[in-house]
Amino acid sequence: MPSALVFGAGGQIGQAVCTRLLDAGWQVLGVSRTPRVDAAGIRWLQADLAVGFGITDAVDAVLSCGPLDLFSRWYAGSALAAARVVAFSSTSAAVKQDSPDPAERRLAKLLQDSEASVSASAAQRRAHATVLRPTLVYGAGRDQTLTRIVAIARQMRCFVLPACATGLRQPVHVDDLAAAALAALERPAGQGQVYALPGGESLGYREMVRRTLAVLQPTPRLLVVPTPMFRLALSAAHLTGSMQQASPAVLARMRDDLVFDPGPAQRGLGYAPRAFRPDATMLGG
Ligand SMILES: NC(=O)c1ccc[n+]([C@@H]2O[C@H](COP(=O)([O-])OP(=O)(O)OC[C@H]3O[C@@H](n4cnc5c(N)ncnc54)[C@H](OP(=O)(O)O)[C@@H]3O)[C@@H](O)[C@H]2O)c1
Repeated sequence: MPSALVFGAGGQIGQAVCTRLLDAGWQVLGVSRTPRVDAAGIRWLQADLAVGFGITDAVDAVLSCGPLDLFSRWYAGSALAAARVVAFSSTSAAVKQDSPDPAERRLAKLLQDSEASVSASAAQRRAHATVLRPTLVYGAGRDQTLTRIVAIARQMRCFVLPACATGLRQPVHVDDLAAAALAALERPAGQGQVYALPGGESLGYREMVRRTLAVLQPTPRLLVVPTPMFRLALSAAHLTGSMQQASPAVLARMRDDLVFDPGPAQRGLGYAPRAFRPDATMLGG
């Protein structure tokens, strides 16, 4: 029975990956910073990548579903000889590299450097690495975008978008990402590659939010307000310490099309993500 070491096994992507691994007959060694109870097929190791830890178990594969920079550093310094490595990065590595926000540019550079480090470390030990870059993730009811929109709309009974929110998005379900990770373990064609993993449909920001709100009954109203008015309200919210995640760079990006070609992942991994048809269970409802 093959075995896999999974970092971030309790996260929204990690959990979906573990479910798929167990269904496919893998033994899973899950890593978490908090103690967890072992279950059929899965044994937990308590460890913090920021502190570092040693592992004596031999595994066939290692999957990183947590912070990529921490994993890349740990992997470079470890003696782990797993033949296959699958690491989740993010399309932010491409999207944010030219951002006006220095923190976002730093994040993009960190992701790119970490991806390169994982590939180099794998090559040194004759292992094969595949880097997966998801777009906007949903499905586990724990994401910080769509599930958050549902939570705000439930409380406010409406949701407000600026008129500039016209860019295209490709929300991707966690289970489609998990399927891609399994395919990367199993298909030699997927090795040594960086794949963008967009969702199965490109849709406008407003339509994405409309379908998101429709998971609630009664469906909250979607209000579209002039962008300057929205910006003003956001500045006021920042002064009170709320909505800190909605930075000016995030607002500016709402009009951009964040669209990625699924073609390479389709050809290399047989990637076939679903269209965006959320229900309440996928968005914390
Ligand atoms: N969410 C998105 O929209 C999105 C989009 C594109 C890419 N990604 C990338 O995909 C990966 C997974 O994302 P996610 O949304 O599934 O994340 P998540 O739900 O926040 O889970 C991340 C996991 O990482 C683990 N972790 C965090 N710090 C750790 C540390 N110091 N040592 C060991 N484990 C640590 C946590 O495990 P414990 O708390 O159990 O220790 C947690 O389960 C990340 O690399 C993320 O950047 C996410």
